[in-house]
Parts: sequence; structure tokens; C-alpha cells
Amino acid sequence: MSVIQTVKGTRDFYPTEMAFRTWLYSRIRAASEAFGYQEMDAPFLEPFELYAAKSGEELVKEQAFVFPDRGGELLTLRPELTPSLARMVAMRAASLPRPIRWWSFGPFWRYERPQRGRTREFFQWNIDMIGITSAAADAELAAIAATFFQSIGLQPEQVQIRVNNRELVEQRLESIGIRAADPTLIFRLLDRRERLSDSKWFQEAEAVGLDEAQISGIDALLKDVEAWRQFDPLRIFFEMIDSMELGAYFLYDPTIVRGLDYYTGTVFEARDAGGELRALLGGGRYDSLIADVGGQSLPAVGFAMGDVVLGLLLERAGIYPELRANPSEVLVPSFDDDTISASLRLSRELRDAGFKVEWYPTPDRLGKQFKYADGQGIPLVALIGPEELTQEQVTIKDLRTGEQLSVPRREVAETLRERLGTQPAS
Ligand code: HAM
Repeated sequence: MSVIQTVKGTRDFYPTEMAFRTWLYSRIRAASEAFGYQEMDAPFLEPFELYAAKSGEELVKEQAFVFPDRGGELLTLRPELTPSLARMVAMRAASLPRPIRWWSFGPFWRYERPQRGRTREFFQWNIDMIGITSAAADAELAAIAATFFQSIGLQPEQVQIRVNNRELVEQRLESIGIRAADPTLIFRLLDRRERLSDSKWFQEAEAVGLDEAQISGIDALLKDVEAWRQFDPLRIFFEMIDSMELGAYFLYDPTIVRGLDYYTGTVFEARDAGGELRALLGGGRYDSLIADVGGQSLPAVGFAMGDVVLGLLLERAGIYPELRANPSEVLVPSFDDDTISASLRLSRELRDAGFKVEWYPTPDRLGKQFKYADGQGIPLVALIGPEELTQEQVTIKDLRTGEQLSVPRREVAETLRERLGTQPAS
């Protein structure tokens, strides 16, 4: 019988992969909390209408996992957090102290074609500030992203945050005579410029009603890298980023508009410097979404970063963290049947003293037990054999150095602590 396979585009998290996920979560928590953001979460299952409000046609119609529940209600496995967050804010807008600063880390689902950096089940870090319209708020969110990259060792040579502003794009389009009744159609078109071949893109441009002169006008706009200098929200944004000494991570990129329909102002995305992978993170200002899901009008800005592309980039940059899946600090071996209860008692005492202690469950050859500990990266062994038992001693072996010493029973915890260089757990 063959083993039943995972659902296409999902991943099993064996302890090694889980260690990366946990590490990432802890780095994300540290970056978010350093800026004073509070952790929150929303349901993984949401009503389908929530996304129809504004996420964007591609995400809602082609990528969301949508299914009826047994009662016939149309449900969606959340493809992104922002609409849920907007709903949560809308429900309690009057009582939530502002600015609202929230972050979360959790799973999302999109029915995309699985490929390098793209899965159907992935994790996202979301971080958002609600209640403030200013370039300063935009800059804070972008600075959080850059500070996070710094904290995990990703340098500006490896990752770049590209910034643009949809209002600026609209102004510039108007300047060449393009005034769309529905600007989202034009944003979608611009967003697809890099992803489509020239001919396919021209076809799409014609389909939204642009003529040849307008299309070549757009091409010229997409190449003007100085346009931000005349546009205050971006000029102030870059000034603030510079004052936080993060300028090296940022650049103005007139081609960035982002694929989601709800963005209204500054938008940004982070890419690997070589531009080989899909975006690491993306976000921007969305000042109408909270009203669009039925709440009062409240401005907001935020971004989301996926775990998959980040993992690839860390590997590529040679800075994937070296993590041990096994948490044990001390292995207590089983010497023989007569000393089993003494070894169990010692394990218990050491756990009470705050150590992470793994007890070896069978009296195998000691060499085998030590080898197991070494293979698991467990640094210390605390052994009670018959001799140790009569002399009220414990043999401690430091597997990192090979040193071995005999210590009186009551000094075991202290010796282990010194070796580990840690404080006692309170
Ligand atoms: P998004 O650009 O759709 O934005 O996704 C953000 C990030 O999630 C992407 O840059 C990517 O790293 C990751 N991601 C998305 N889809 C996949 C996938 N199929 N496989 C692997 N990773 C993926 C949003 O979701 C917005 N809601 C972000 C936001 C928050 N805007 C304001 N606040």
C-alpha cells in the first residue's frame, strides 16, 4: 500500500522545518514588538463575501479556496488577512485605542500553480497600523520591514524594498491623458507589465481601451525614476526612512503598483536583489477598505511577508539559521535495570531545576546512548550508574569538548548550569 500524499502545494513540517517556522515566528515577534505592535489573529475560515469587497479579481475568483459548508453557506479559506483585519477594526472602531498597531503570523491558502517560492498553503507575517494617514505611518511600516531584514542578516545588497504611490501613478497617467473611470483596471494592467510578454501586455492594454500613444506614454512613465521628487508623500517618506538610517534598503520604482485592488496610496514590495524570486513581502496604504467592509472610514497601512520566499532567500544568501530541532540540554542515560529509578529521579530533579532533560529509555550500551545524544546536538550527559549511586555522585560528560567529571549529587545542577552558561529558570 502506498502512503497517502499531501494535498498539492502543502508542506509537512517535520521537526527540522518546524524549527525554522518557530524561529521565524520568534524573529517576527521581536521585530513587531520592538515597534510596539500587538499580536492578534482572525479566523482561518471566512464568508466568501468578505473578499468580494475589494481584494481583487484574481485573488477572489481564481485563487481563493471556496466551498459550501454542509448547510450550503459559501466559505473561504483565508487567502489573506487584510479583509478580516478590516472587519475586526470596523466592528470595534469606537472602542479601540488609536493608532491601532497589530501584527500576526499564521497560515493562508491560495490556489496557485505550485512552483519555486509559491505554494498553496503558506504562512504570512501581517503587520498594520490603522487610524493614521501620513507619510510617517507609511515610513514606519516600511522601516519595520527593513529592520526585520537587518535583524536576520539580510543586507541591502541582498534585498531591496521598492516603493511607489498609486496617487502619483494616477496623476502621471492623467498628465498623459489617461483618466480611467475605474483606475483599478489600469493598476491591474501596470501590475502585470513585468509578468506578461510585450505582445500579451499590449493586447491587454488595448482591451482596457488604451490607444497606441497612451501605451507608449505608459512605457515612458514606467522608466522615469525621478518622479517621486516632486511628490510630497514620497519625498517625506524617503526623508523619514533616511532619518532612521535605513535608506540603503529602499528605492523608488515607478513600476510597482501591487496586485490588490484596495491600495490607495504608497505601495511597496521587497524583492531579492537579483530579482529572481517572487516578492518577499508586499503592502501599502489602504484608506477605504474599512469603510468598504461596512465600518466607519479609517485610514490604514500595512504589509505581509510570506515564509516560503524568505526561506529560499536565506538559503541562497548562505544565512539560513542553524537550528536544532531537539530542545534537550541534558541526556540522562539508562545504565541498567537497577539504576533506572535513580536516573528517573535525577531527570525529574533536573527538570525541576529548569533544565530541558531527555531520559534515554533503554539500557543500551553507553557508547550508543552518547552517540545518540551527540547526533541530536544534546551538549551534556548526566549519568548515574551503580558506582555513582553508592558514592552519591553523578558523572557529567560534556559532549562538545569530551570532558568528563564526577560531581557530588547536590552540585549537579550548578555544574550543568555553568557548562550551559545559563541562569536558573525561575
Ligand atoms: P500579497 O502581496 O498578496 O499581499 O502577499 C504578501 C506576501 O505573501 C507575498 O509577497 C509572498 O511572500 C506571500 N505569498 C503570497 N502568496 C503566496 C503563495 N501562493 N505562496 C507563497 N507565498 C505567498 C497581501 O496578502 C496583503 N494582504 C498584504 C497587506 C497587509 N497589505 C496591507 N496589509
